[in-house]
Formats: sequence, structure tokens, C-alpha cells
Amino acid sequence: MASILIVDDEKSMREFLEILLANEGFEVSSAVNGEEACGILDKTRFDLVITDIRMDTVSGIEVLRKAKEVDLNTEVIIISAYANADTAVEAMEGGAYDFIPKPFDVDEFRIIVREALQKKTSSGFEQEENAEEGFHFGCLMGDSPGMKVIYDLIKRVAKTNTNILISGESGTGKELVAKAIHTESQRKDRPFVVINCAGIPESLIEGELFGHRKGAFTGATMDKVGLFEAADKGTVFFDEIGELTPAIQVKLLRVIQERTFTRIGETTERSVDVRFISATNKNLEKEVIDGRFREDLFFRLNVINIPIPPLRERKQDLAVLAQYFLKKYSAEFEKDIKKLSTFALDILSNYPFPGNVRELENIIERSVALETSNIVLPQSLTLSNFKKTKVMEDRRRNDIGPNGIKLDEVMTELEKEYMLKAMELTQGSKQKAAELLGLSERSMRYRMEKLGL
Ligand SMILES: Nc1ncnc2c1ncn2[C@@H]1O[C@H](COP(=O)(O)OP(=O)(O)OP(=O)(O)O)[C@@H](O)[C@H]1O
Ligand SMILES: [Mg+2]
Repeated sequence: MASILIVDDEKSMREFLEILLANEGFEVSSAVNGEEACGILDKTRFDLVITDIRMDTVSGIEVLRKAKEVDLNTEVIIISAYANADTAVEAMEGGAYDFIPKPFDVDEFRIIVREALQKKTSSGFEQEENAEEGFHFGCLMGDSPGMKVIYDLIKRVAKTNTNILISGESGTGKELVAKAIHTESQRKDRPFVVINCAGIPESLIEGELFGHRKGAFTGATMDKVGLFEAADKGTVFFDEIGELTPAIQVKLLRVIQERTFTRIGETTERSVDVRFISATNKNLEKEVIDGRFREDLFFRLNVINIPIPPLRERKQDLAVLAQYFLKKYSAEFEKDIKKLSTFALDILSNYPFPGNVRELENIIERSVALETSNIVLPQSLTLSNFKKTKVMEDRRRNDIGPNGIKLDEVMTELEKEYMLKAMELTQGSKQKAAELLGLSERSMRYRMEKLGL
């Protein structure tokens, strides 16, 4: 079991991380400040240290230094509410695995932790068939022909430095694919810097990307290293590239062509060695035709295109993905839900998933939270604007499809449905509900307990 040390002087944050990571099955310890952390690190070895950056007396950067001094193999993730490129660079140069700005997305955080620990145990990605988890490629799950093409592409392009454009609907896993390319490449030990083109205001983007010199403009009180420099020898991931304004598009084109840039307020050119991966959920070709995206930039970025098919076009992945998320959230919510009922999976296979894998993940998370029995039944799936009953009725009329059914599950589902219906009709009176169903009160109680109602 991997061991993790959490360092944060904010109690609520510390406790939140402790619970989150303990639920993931890690052995978690914590320190209330940098000093205590250094003391603990002197005595105990950890696989991973997660530390806040701003703390009184001993900072997160010093904790990082200490951890690396004691054991170079310990990975360190730094979290900070005061993210700027300077501290990120300092952290990266100190050997931090990643730098996460607060507030962060819990899912992303979990992935980063998992990847940091994965990096420790194995270099590179495994691609394997695992009886329990199904086929996967690193963090990417699924064995549909569509995904296998993607895995193959990832492996091939990872060896090159070509610019890559990943396209696909929202939630299809574009960022995960970009990260996989980075992890499979020679650059894996250098930073993977994500630039969300839709998230940085136009007035700030230049400074963020290129950095600036002290005094270059009001407010530039010191020299600042931009994200390109921070990513040197690593990978830059431009998320939502279609959102870049024309002015920034021109500047970016130059960096991509010349591999050089200048900090704002400086005249000397600096050169940079980065690999560019971009992602978009727009049709960039159409953006080019409509004059919103520069054609020359488009061709530069799109040397190789990796189109990720929407989930509804690779239904084969559904079971593996659902099972993967089920396991994850079962552990997180400390529940013992082992699988989805055949009915539930059937309903999911008929759902179009406009939000793709992300939506599936959310659906499973909610269902695990709601489910009271030990398999996920259709009742606990919340699908927007979708008639579950229609699928269930079709299914019942069709009795046994080509894949067969699980009679016990079908019966359990029916039983549960009737019990709920009877309770609803009798406004919760067990006695009256039992009468309606032709059961003794005792049998009713027993069944309700069994079904976790
Ligand atoms: N093949 C996969 N295996 C496991 N998890 C996946 C897979 N594809 C996507 N996910 C998960 O789905 C969520 C969305 O993935 P990601 O952020 O990479 O999508 P995206 O295409 O970048 O979405 P958006 O366009 O909305 O930014 C993440 O939580 C990710 O871990
Ligand atoms: Mg994304």
C-alpha cells in the first residue's frame, strides 16, 4: 500500500485530503506545518508527499527539498492557492511531480495522485488485460476498436516531437490522452503544462505564456518566468485552443515556427524546447473557414490529428468504464457495491451520453451514492431527459436477448420496484404495503432489509 504524507496548516484542507486519500486505499499521515513535516520525513519514508506551499516559517518548497534530500524517489505534489508561474517553476526545478492550483478538481487530483504513484512503481505505461479491471492503457480504460486505434497512435506519436491536435466532444478524454502521450514520451520526467486557453483573460495571457521583465508594465514588480519557459523540455498542452483570440494566435504561431519568444519588456530572444499538444471540442476546420482561426496556425498545430470518438460510438467500452468508476466510487463512499445489474447496463447502452465519459462517471458516482443494495439497479441511475422505463419495458417484452439475462437480478429488480411502488401507494405503511403485495409483514420486513430499502 502506498504511503502519503499530507502537509497543510489549514485543518479543513488537511482533513479533506486525509479522508479523500484514505478512501482511495492509501496509508495517510499528516503534518500541521512544514516543520513537523520535516521532522516526520527524517524518521519515516513516504511514497508521496502532498504539501501546501504557503505556510509559516517552513514553506512547501522547503518540505519538497527535505523530502528529496531524504529520498529522491519520494514524489512531491505541491498545492497552492497562490499559483503563479514563478513558484510553479521553482517547484518543478526542485523536482516536484506536479503543481496544483487551489481550488482544484477532485477527480483531476485523484488522477494526479495515482499517476505520481504509478510513475514511482513503473516507468512508462502498461497496456494489459486484467481480469478484474478490463483492458486499459495507463489511465485510459476501454478496449473498443476505436480506443485501440488511439492507444496505438499514442504509442507511435509519443516517440516523435510532432505537434498534435486532439479533437473530440466534451468529456471524451482529450486531456487524458494528451497526458498519456507525455507520459509515454522521452519528456515524461519534465513538466506537462496545461494552458486553458478559455480560462486566461486576453490581457493576462501574454504575460502568462511569455513571462515579463521587472518594470515592463505597471504591476510588473519582478521578473516573471512564463509557462513556455516553465515547460522547457516538457510538453505544453493547449486546452480549448479554438478559444484563442486572433492577437494571441499570431504570437503563438511565431513561437511554434521559431521555437523562440521574448519576455514582455525584453529584447533578447529565448529559445525553448517544448512539444505542443492542443485539444478542441470545436470543429477547427470550420473555424478556419469562418475566419475565426488562422489557417497557418491550424496547419502547424494539426500535424497529426487524434480524433476521439464519442462514447455512444464505442459502446463496447461502457461496461469496462462503468465498472472502473464503480470500483472507484464504491471505495470512496465506503460502500460494497460490486457491479451494475444487467438491466442497468442495458439502460446505459441505450443512453446517448451527450457528456461522454465524464457524464458516465458522474452518473456512476451518483448511483453509488444513492444505491442501497449491493448492485446498481436502474432506479439509482439518473439520466437527464431519458426514459428508462421504455428500455425496461422493451427489455421485458423481449424477454431474453442474444446476451442472455441474469434471472436473479431481473427478479431482484422487479421485487424492488414493486416494493417501492407499494410503499409509495400506502404512504410508507409497511403493513398495508405487505397486504397489497400478498406478503406477511414479517416477509415484507425481511425483503426490505435484504434489498436495503
Ligand atoms: N478512456 C477513459 N478511461 C478512464 N477515464 C476516462 C477516459 N476518458 C475520459 N475519462 C475521464 O472522464 C473525465 C473527462 O476526461 P477529460 O477531462 O480528459 O475529457 P476532455 O475531452 O478533456 O473534456 P472537455 O472537452 O470537457 O475538457 C475525466 O475524469 C477522465 O478521467
Ligand atoms: Mg479537457
